[in-house]
Amino acid sequence: MLILQSLLTLLPLLSVVYAASIRLDARQNGNSSSSSSNNNGTSSNSTAAGPYGLSNARCENVKLSVPVNLTLANFTNVDNNYSNQSYITRQVIDFTEAQANWTAAHGPSMNTTFNLNRTFSINGYYCTPIRGAKNDSALWNLVHGIGFDSSYWDYTLSKEYSVVRHAASYGYSTFRYDRLGTGGSETPSTGGFDVVRAQTEVAIYQGVLQQLRNSTKVGGKKHNKIVGIGHSYGSIQTQAVSMMTPQLLDAVVLTGYTTNSTNLPGYLHAASYSIANKIFPDRLANKSDIWLVTGSNASDINGFFYPPYYSEASFDLARSTEQAVTLGSLFTVGAVGGMSNFTGPVQVVNGAKDFIFCSSNCWGGPNGTDIPSGVKMLYPNAKNFTSYIAENTGHGITAHYSQPMVAEEIAQWIAAQGL
Ligand SMILES: *[C@@H]1O[C@H](CO)[C@@H](O)[C@H](O)[C@H]1NC(C)=O
Ligand SMILES: *[C@@H]1O[C@H](CO)[C@@H](O)[C@H](O)[C@H]1NC(C)=O
Ligand SMILES: *[C@@H]1O[C@H](CO)[C@@H](O)[C@H](O)[C@H]1NC(C)=O
Ligand SMILES: *[C@@H]1O[C@H](CO)[C@@H](O)[C@H](O)[C@H]1NC(C)=O
Ligand SMILES: *[C@@H]1O[C@H](CO)[C@@H](O)[C@H](O)[C@H]1NC(C)=O
Ligand SMILES: *[C@@H]1O[C@H](CO)[C@@H](O)[C@H](O)[C@H]1NC(C)=O
Ligand SMILES: *[C@@H]1O[C@H](CO)[C@@H](O)[C@H](O)[C@H]1NC(C)=O
Ligand SMILES: *[C@@H]1O[C@H](CO)[C@@H](O)[C@H](O)[C@H]1NC(C)=O
Ligand SMILES: *[C@@H]1O[C@H](CO)[C@@H](O)[C@H](O)[C@H]1NC(C)=O
Ligand SMILES: *[C@@H]1O[C@H](CO)[C@@H](O)[C@H](O)[C@H]1NC(C)=O
Ligand SMILES: *[C@@H]1O[C@H](CO)[C@@H](O)[C@H](O)[C@H]1NC(C)=O
Ligand SMILES: *[C@@H]1O[C@H](CO)[C@@H](O)[C@H](O)[C@H]1NC(C)=O
Repeated sequence: MLILQSLLTLLPLLSVVYAASIRLDARQNGNSSSSSSNNNGTSSNSTAAGPYGLSNARCENVKLSVPVNLTLANFTNVDNNYSNQSYITRQVIDFTEAQANWTAAHGPSMNTTFNLNRTFSINGYYCTPIRGAKNDSALWNLVHGIGFDSSYWDYTLSKEYSVVRHAASYGYSTFRYDRLGTGGSETPSTGGFDVVRAQTEVAIYQGVLQQLRNSTKVGGKKHNKIVGIGHSYGSIQTQAVSMMTPQLLDAVVLTGYTTNSTNLPGYLHAASYSIANKIFPDRLANKSDIWLVTGSNASDINGFFYPPYYSEASFDLARSTEQAVTLGSLFTVGAVGGMSNFTGPVQVVNGAKDFIFCSSNCWGGPNGTDIPSGVKMLYPNAKNFTSYIAENTGHGITAHYSQPMVAEEIAQWIAAQGL
C-alpha cells in the first residue's frame, strides 16, 4: 500500500471473475445480480420516500480533529508545490500516456520515506431523524468524491435529491464530512504529491470511523453499526477501508465506482485540470496553486454529466460549488484498495453513462456482462452483493434526474439488509 501501484495495470489484473447479470431484470443469479430501473430516468423520477417524509432530518455541524500517523514513501523528482499550469498539464500527459514510465521516474520510492504525523481538522454534519428514529439502526457515513464536498449527499437542488433526507425519511441518521481540501475542512497549502494523496485520505477516513464508533463527538453517542457509503473517490476510499480494516464497517455502498480503469486517462485529459484559484478567483482564492478544478464547464460536463438528463439549474449548482483536488490524489487512485475479506453486504450503484468508470456504457463489460458487476470479485466473502445501474445518468449521479430514484434504491437496499 505504500508503493504506488499502477493505476492502469493494477485494476485490470483483478478483473478476472465476472458475475453474469441480466439487464432490466432483478432476478438473482448466484448471489449477485444487476438491475436497473425500467424507465430511462426522464419520466418516472419518483419522489417516493420513507414513512417520515423528506423533511425529517435535523442536522448539526461537527468539527473533528483527526490524528494521522503514517509512514509514506516520497514521490521522486516532483515539484510538491507546483504552481505552473504547463508543469501540471505535462504531468497529466506523461502519466496518462505512459504511466509505467512516469511512475519509474516520479513514483513514490521506499528509498525515501517520511512520517506524516499530523492532526487534520475535518468538517462534517450529523443529521438525525426528527421522528421515527429506527431502533438499533446503522449510521450512514457518507464520503463524497472529487469535485464535490459533503453537500453532494444533501444536494440542495430539491429535497428529492438529498440522500440525507431519504435516509431520515426511513429513520436513519447520517454523518457526512468534507474530504481534505474541500468545504469546511482543512486545506494543506503544500505537499501536492507527498501529503494530499489517497493514503492520507484513507487514514483520515479510518480516524473518522474510529471516532464515530469509539467517542461521543458525533451525535452524543457511540455508533456501533456503520454503513460506509462512497461516491467515486469516496468509494475508492470506502473500498480500501473495507479491505484494510473491515471491522470498521457493517455494510458498504459504492456509488460511481467500478474496477474498470480503461477510461481514467480519458477522464484526466477531458477534465483539463487547472489551478483552482485562477478558474474561481473569488470563491477559491485562498487555495494554494496545488489545488485544481476542471478547466471549464465543458470539462466538468465531460467527466461528470450525461447531457441532457439533468436540469441547467443542477449543472449550475454543481459547477458553482465545485471543489478542488491535487495531482497527488489523482495519481494515487490505484494505490489503495483491493481484494477484501469483508463479510457484510455490498451494493454497487452506477449511472449507465458513467464516463470515468464505464467509458460511458456500464452495460458494456466483457462477454456480455455489465461492468459494475465486476466489483464482486473484490468481495468473495460478502453476505450480499447487489449491483444497480441507473439509465441516462453520468458519473456525478446526484445531479441527474435519476437521483431521487437512486437515493430510494440505496435506502431500500440498506433497510432490506436489516441494518
Ligand atoms: C441481496 O439483497 C437484496 C436486497 O434486499 C435482495 O433483493 C437480494 O435477494 C439479496 N441477495 C441475496 C443473494 O441474498
Ligand atoms: C425516455 O422514456 C420516455 C417515456 O418512456 C420516452 O418518451 C422518451 O423518448 C425516452 N427517451 C429516451 C432518450 O430514451
Ligand atoms: C423529473 O424529470 C423531469 C424531466 O423529465 C424534470 O422536469 C423534473 O424536474 C424532474 N424532477 C426532479 C425531482 O428532478
Ligand atoms: C506513529 O508511527 C510511528 C512509526 O510507525 C510509531 O513508532 C509511533 O508509535 C506512532 N505514534 C503514535 C502516537 O501512534
Ligand atoms: C518527503 O516528503 C515530506 C513531506 O512533503 C518532506 O517533508 C520531506 O522533505 C520529503 N523527503 C524527501 C527526501 O524528499
Ligand atoms: C517508456 O519507456 C520505455 C522503456 O524505457 C520506452 O521504450 C518508451 O518509449 C517509453 N514511452 C514513452 C511514451 O515515453
Ligand atoms: C532505491 O535503492 C536501491 C538500492 O540502493 C536502488 O537500487 C534503487 O535504484 C533505488 N531506487 C530509486 C527510485 O532511487
Ligand atoms: C507525533 O506528533 C505528536 C504531537 O506533535 C508527538 O508527540 C509525537 O512524538 C509524534 N510522533 C512521531 C512518531 O513523530
Ligand atoms: C476507544 O477509546 C478508548 C478510550 O479512549 C481507548 O482505550 C481504546 O483503545 C479505543 N478503542 C479503539 C478501537 O479505538
Ligand atoms: C484475507 O484473509 C486471508 C486468509 O485469512 C489472509 O491471508 C489475507 O491476508 C486477508 N486479506 C486481507 C486484505 O486482509
Ligand atoms: C472495461 O471497459 C472497457 C470500455 O468500456 C470495456 O471494453 C472492457 O471490456 C471493460 N473491461 C472490464 C474487465 O470490465
Ligand atoms: C471472455 O470469453 C473469452 C472466450 O470464451 C475468454 O477467453 C475470456 O477469458 C472471457 N473474458 C472474461 C473477462 O471473462
